[in-house]
Amino acid sequence: MRIYRVPDYSALSRKAADILAAQILMKPDCVLGLATGSTPVGTYRNLAEKYKSGDLDFSHVRSVNLDEYRGIAGDNANSYYYFMNENLFHHVNIHLSNTNIPDGTNPDTDGECIRYESVIRSLGGIDLQLLGLGHNGHIGFNEPADHFPVRTHCVDLADSTIEANKRFFASADEVPRQAYTMGIGTIMKARKVLLLVSGEGKADILRKSLCGPVTPAVPASVLQLHSDVIVIADEAAMAAME
Ligand code: F6R
Repeated sequence: MRIYRVPDYSALSRKAADILAAQILMKPDCVLGLATGSTPVGTYRNLAEKYKSGDLDFSHVRSVNLDEYRGIAGDNANSYYYFMNENLFHHVNIHLSNTNIPDGTNPDTDGECIRYESVIRSLGGIDLQLLGLGHNGHIGFNEPADHFPVRTHCVDLADSTIEANKRFFASADEVPRQAYTMGIGTIMKARKVLLLVSGEGKADILRKSLCGPVTPAVPASVLQLHSDVIVIADEAAMAAME
């Protein structure tokens, strides 16, 4: 595991974009696993700038997103589909037909999970998976549990996740209670993982994830078992690591 300690969020965002750009330069038709949430927003902005300045070409890039709320459609401003369009896809030359996100509107829950896993398989797996870290240690929407869910599945969101994500909605009542997420096994099969962690609110969970026991009670701790993980964390997030 390589850990980059950077001064602040803006340095984190630049470095993460550099690593994603390097992946695209090394393999123009790579499969990127993408994340939503606040943490990667600056990274996506930097990627869009690299595209605009002519330094990066997304025309052959394929992508799969980690997760999507269940029960809301892509044109809903809170869907992750909408988020990806707003924050990245509409600002670069990726073909939307090469982007994949679980379909939150599919009434066949099991069928959607099977479909999404087979999409990832048909692309040849994920070259680089971008991750944020939940306050409870979740990655994707793999919430603390007594086991590591292996494949894409539908989860009941933890109360703490609903609380954390309500900032994007009019009220906590409007946050969907379920989501589709890649499983821990799906994430662990990615050839490279890039974990971004920013802010003092993540300091304790970052220490538990990287230095504590590997346990499904802290889902991100499983990354200690992955052979190629890069962590970029700012000073505030690293505060509990000494
Ligand atoms: C998002 C995702 C989540 C977030 C995590 C951190 O696709 O899967 O695991 O990465 O909740 O969210 P932020 O970055 O908003 O703190």
